[in-house]
Amino acid sequence: MKILAIDTSCDDTSIAISEDRKILANEFWSKLKLHSELGGVVPIEAKRQHEEFLPLVIEKAIENAGLEIEDMDAIAVTYGPGLAIALEPGIEKAKELAKKYHKPLIAVNHMIGHIYANLAQDMEEKSLSLTVEFEFPALALTISGGHTDLYLMEDHLKFHHIGQTLDDSIGEAFDKVGRTLGFGFPAGGAIEKSALLGDENAFKFPRPLANTNDYNWSYSVLKTAVLYQIKKLTGEYHSKPGKGAYKLEDLASDLSDQQINDIAASFQRAAVDSLIIKIRKAVGKIKPKMLIIGGGVIANTLLRTELEKLAEEFEIKITYPQPMWLCTDNAAMIAITAYYMTQILEDKAYHNDLETLDRVPNLEI
Ligand code: KG4
Ligand code: ZN
Repeated sequence: MKILAIDTSCDDTSIAISEDRKILANEFWSKLKLHSELGGVVPIEAKRQHEEFLPLVIEKAIENAGLEIEDMDAIAVTYGPGLAIALEPGIEKAKELAKKYHKPLIAVNHMIGHIYANLAQDMEEKSLSLTVEFEFPALALTISGGHTDLYLMEDHLKFHHIGQTLDDSIGEAFDKVGRTLGFGFPAGGAIEKSALLGDENAFKFPRPLANTNDYNWSYSVLKTAVLYQIKKLTGEYHSKPGKGAYKLEDLASDLSDQQINDIAASFQRAAVDSLIIKIRKAVGKIKPKMLIIGGGVIANTLLRTELEKLAEEFEIKITYPQPMWLCTDNAAMIAITAYYMTQILEDKAYHNDLETLDRVPNLEI
């Protein structure tokens, strides 16, 4: 089954072509890397980029796959969650292609995509994912710029939401702390690099909610503790209490390189520990056969190492998308999810009435 998939949930204009689980082409346009003054995506610019580049990226993907749109069996598109006005051009393009080429349309949840990215087989067939099959019951963890969620999966596409962040996502905490340390946006990768040169015991940051009897997190409490420490080190806390008139990124210039690296390392350790504490609880209680991870934050080596140790200790399998580009936003994961939807849900996988398909920015699994 051949699928053309579109993802415009954020600032990447992503197109993929798949045949069953195999990715034949994966193209994206993210040249603009649109940052707001505060470090983030400017939705209206993202929308403009998607509208301008969708035709080009589609053409390139089709060409790389050596196919025509006529050869497709279905068109798949992310309809949420994501930035409302960024989702729109992707959905409009998917509808246009479905109508023009008389193809059925599959509307895909972006976060289910992050989980099903694990089952993609990449173009060069070098991917470790070649051998991955989900084993149930499984625990699925999504850790991205917008999400920190834990699901119990009893079968394909059957999710019970059992844990979540009560405020910021783990990726957001990395990005906000990173911005204050002067790393730009997104900052996860830069924090990881800086942490390599720092001492993770230099500062004692909290592991919020560590003792609660649930699978929830609070990354806002951790982020706030780190920002408070930075302000203390730079003297801002004492000189301008409560004013907030300075820009957070300006604080970094008052820190030494060693202080920056120590904060990065201590924050990263606390962020990872926080996650592991609750995953350990969940694995111990639920005893899943497999831990399935999805989302950009799994690019973090310390986190991967700690999760792998945990899986080994409890003798369960662990999987995260390979190669690494499958962890961050991409349309290949949307194509693979759409394929599994057709296999599991059969006719119900398709969105028959095109007119009723709309973006759902806060879509949940
Ligand atoms: O899944 P993703 O690409 O996009 C969303 O759907 O949000 O995740 C992006 C998030 C960003 O917050 C980014 O800082 C974080 O993943 N990230 C990392 C690393 N690489 C990316 N966080 C920690 N360590 C990394 N190496
Ligand atoms: Zn994503």
